[in-house]
Amino acid sequence: MEVVIVPDAAAGGELIAEAMAALLRRKPEALLGVATGSTPLPVYQALSAKVRAGEVDVAGARICQLDEYVGLPAGHPESYRSVVLREVVEPLGLSEASFMGPDGGAEDIPAACAAYDSALTEAGGVDLQLLGIGTDGHIGFNEPCSSLASRTRIKTLTEQTRKDNARFFDSIDQVPHHVITQGIGTILEARHLVLLATGEAKADAVALAVEGPLSALVPASALQLHPHATIIADEAAASRLK
Ligand code: F6R
Repeated sequence: MEVVIVPDAAAGGELIAEAMAALLRRKPEALLGVATGSTPLPVYQALSAKVRAGEVDVAGARICQLDEYVGLPAGHPESYRSVVLREVVEPLGLSEASFMGPDGGAEDIPAACAAYDSALTEAGGVDLQLLGIGTDGHIGFNEPCSSLASRTRIKTLTEQTRKDNARFFDSIDQVPHHVITQGIGTILEARHLVLLATGEAKADAVALAVEGPLSALVPASALQLHPHATIIADEAAASRLK
């Protein structure tokens, strides 16, 4: 595992956007796995700026979601499909056809989860998966005690994560209790994992993921198993590394 400490979130965003651009220059049809939440926004802004500046052509890129809320009405602005369309797909000038994600409105959720895992495999696998990290060490929505071999499946959000995400909704009561998330085993199949962590609130989780034992109690510690994992942390998020 490689750990890169950057001065701030903007520098982290620029570094990751450049890694994505380099990947797309060598593999124009690369499948980029994207995360939602606040942390990755500087990455998407920096990548869009590179596209506008003509530094990279992303026309062939394919985008896939990491996770999705269960039960939000189709088109809800905070469904992760809507968020990724708004923050990634549209700013990059891509079409909806270049984008795939799990169906959080499916009648048969286990079948939708299995279908998404298969779709990722059929698409040739994820080339670069961008990850954030929860204050409790989650990646995707694999909360503590998730199996390190898990596949895409339905999970119940912890109260901590619902509280953390309440800022995107009018009240915590509107935050769904369930999500579909790529499993840790699914995430580990991506060719390159890039985890961005910014802010002091992530410092404990980063220290445990990087320096703690491999443990299902800290899902992000599963990155220790991956042959090509990069953690990019700003100084605040890296502040409890030894
Ligand atoms: C969201 C996701 C989550 C977030 C994590 C951090 O798709 O996968 O693991 O990355 O909850 O969220 P922020 O960046 O909002 O602190």
